[in-house]
Amino acid sequence: MKPASATLPIRSKVPLAPRTTFELGGDAEWFLEATSVEMLVAGLDWADREGIRVTILGGGSNSLVPDAGVEGLVVVPALRGVSTTRAGEVVDVTARAGEVWDPLVATMVDSGYAGIEALSGIPGSVGATPIQNVGAYGVEVGDVLTRVTVIDRSSRTMRTFERAELGLAYRDSRLKREPDRFVVVEVELRLRVGAPSPARYAELERALPPFPTLLDVRETVLRLRRAKSMVLDADDPNRRSAGSFFTNPIVDAATAERVIRVALARGLARDAAGVPHWPLDDGRVKLAAGWLLERSGVQRGERHGHVGVSTAHALALVHHGGGSTRELLALAEDARARVRAAFDVELVREPILLGAPISD
Ligand code: EPU
Repeated sequence: MKPASATLPIRSKVPLAPRTTFELGGDAEWFLEATSVEMLVAGLDWADREGIRVTILGGGSNSLVPDAGVEGLVVVPALRGVSTTRAGEVVDVTARAGEVWDPLVATMVDSGYAGIEALSGIPGSVGATPIQNVGAYGVEVGDVLTRVTVIDRSSRTMRTFERAELGLAYRDSRLKREPDRFVVVEVELRLRVGAPSPARYAELERALPPFPTLLDVRETVLRLRRAKSMVLDADDPNRRSAGSFFTNPIVDAATAERVIRVALARGLARDAAGVPHWPLDDGRVKLAAGWLLERSGVQRGERHGHVGVSTAHALALVHHGGGSTRELLALAEDARARVRAAFDVELVREPILLGAPISD
């Protein structure tokens, strides 16, 4: 075993399960919680010198840890700090990667700054939000993001990407597509003083009072999320999850038509509107993975040993304690196979398996 760095607080054999919402998986071979950019860079340098791989872990709400643990150095960017500058109605918020997302949302709502209130209750760290362009209830982080500052691991320099350079898409970005290259240091959002924008998600619109305030939107979103076990809550039996386990599939128009035809032929919906689907600007169509799973026979609350499907939402796979990542991934494969057999649609996993390529 290599000696840990004499100057950095690098520890060996650190359990990662308690640092993820799934509470699954093994240890980090080496582990560093970096509280400054200097410490982060020094950690990357140390790993380079030792010839070991670096894996970045944020808030652990979208990460799966292999049972065998993660080889090399796991770094948690624990950089804290939020600052705001206001010019008229425009508010620029700079938040460092290790800030927790939801308290940031709460502070902005309390301050009367609009833009992220629909993103209430999402677990995880600020630094993770641009990577998978976190979204909910008709809003994506990309809608308010202006800039992201990263450490480019290939050149070991700091770089600032403007929004347009980030290649943002549904649950995707350049940062996600080049997973071993960038470490997010800071995120800049542009909010505005005032009332929330009109709701862009039917379920939210129906649930809101007339002329909602920012706080109304936050509280309504929290209520809706809680009903789906999508808010971290120590008493919720579905709590050990990563929210949606699969992304909603985006398919071409012909595939969407075929899925709707199959659903109607099987009596799963009365008309096309009964099959959730949302046409996108580029002609493709987004389908609802949760709906497809349930109509493929993946039932809410079904249980397989120590893992299962959330009782509140078919799209959330859950760990009930005492289980393994292997069991969870086997259930995920089985669920994907059931959707493939029923609709010939491939579901793509949302949580990242640490220590493995994202596109496995
Ligand atoms: N549905 C079912 N069965 C289910 C779950 C959903 O039939 O078990 C149907 C619903 O009735 C609805 C449709 O599927 O017609 C969509 O469901 P929902 O509104 O719950 O949203 P979702 O598409 O499943 C997405 C995000 C969530 C986000 C919500 C609200 C993805 C992968 N998931 O879920 O994000 O909170 O919309 O905006 O895009 C996450 O990514 O972890 C996450 C929680």
